[in-house]
Amino acid sequence: MQKKSKTAFSFCNSVLERIRMNSFMSWVGGKKALRDAIVTRLPNSCDRYVEVFGGGGWVLFHKTPGKFEVYNDFNPNLANLYRCVRDHPDELCEELRYSLNSRTDFEHIREVLKSKTAIPDIKRAAYFYQIIRESYASGLDSFGAQPHNMWRNFPLITEASRRLQSVVIENKDFEKLISQYDRPNTIFYLDPPYYETEDYYEDVGFGRADHERLCNALMKIKGKFLLSYNDCPEIRELYSKEGIMIESTTRISNIAQRFDAGKQYPELLISNYDTHEEGILSRQLTLFDDFEESEKILKEHKIIWKSNVK
Ligand SMILES: C[S@@+](CC[C@H](N)C(=O)[O-])C[C@H]1O[C@@H](n2cnc3c(N)ncnc32)[C@H](O)[C@@H]1O
Repeated sequence: MQKKSKTAFSFCNSVLERIRMNSFMSWVGGKKALRDAIVTRLPNSCDRYVEVFGGGGWVLFHKTPGKFEVYNDFNPNLANLYRCVRDHPDELCEELRYSLNSRTDFEHIREVLKSKTAIPDIKRAAYFYQIIRESYASGLDSFGAQPHNMWRNFPLITEASRRLQSVVIENKDFEKLISQYDRPNTIFYLDPPYYETEDYYEDVGFGRADHERLCNALMKIKGKFLLSYNDCPEIRELYSKEGIMIESTTRISNIAQRFDAGKQYPELLISNYDTHEEGILSRQLTLFDDFEESEKILKEHKIIWKSNVK
């Protein structure tokens, strides 16, 4: 590569470093470790980005902002939190300002959130954020008993609010969302609850049969999809179909870290388009990364199924 273009790449990279962001929250199954591999594979030909299983939104915050972006999660507390971060960041921080990192408060707030008690949206968002931040490994169920300075999150909330200004926030079941936003120029990024870890997520009732329901919904779309999953025989079999590409990879898992530090976790990236073709095009046009780095990311993945992919 010529010296001049290398300088241009590093200039663009430093600009992009400022655009790329971390999420303002951790979340079980969050894609922090896989986000480069995912963003690198988003097709340049689609200008409507829809994140179907939003969670902590690690991919949304990492990608270059676009004109049309949707964040969705079926968990109503999560969708409410995202709306309050976008529309009322200062009020949310004010509500969090005097929160106490204590087991008694944690358990009380958890009970209030579980009950049918009506709570104003901003207070509900503050309660839910406190539970995420102070629970063990962000699992929401038990108090983490770790030192935590809530005020340190305020700049993250402000930054996330700016990023979310033109993002549509939805709270729908995936099937309804997909049919509502499906167009030939839509890319759906999907990160569903993993096979056999469905019960990690409260308030959504995602069950074993929903993996098949999701697959059936995706096989009918006009747009494109990129799906991340745990690597297991059931999911490999479910998606080994015409017009589908499956790649395997590994990453450090934040779920497995709870029991086994450093454990690598095998994952699948499944798409209805050729991620290497469309991804390369996308990276060259947006100067997402330098070329050697992009090639490295692609080579770390092995294609295990590819049948008549357009
Ligand atoms: C693996 S997590 C997504 C993690 C996210 N990609 C991140 O980086 O943090 C899966 C998410 O799917 C949501 N979910 C579960 N069932 C759903 C459904 N039927 N429709 C939409 N979202 C659902 C859960 O609430 C959970 O936040």
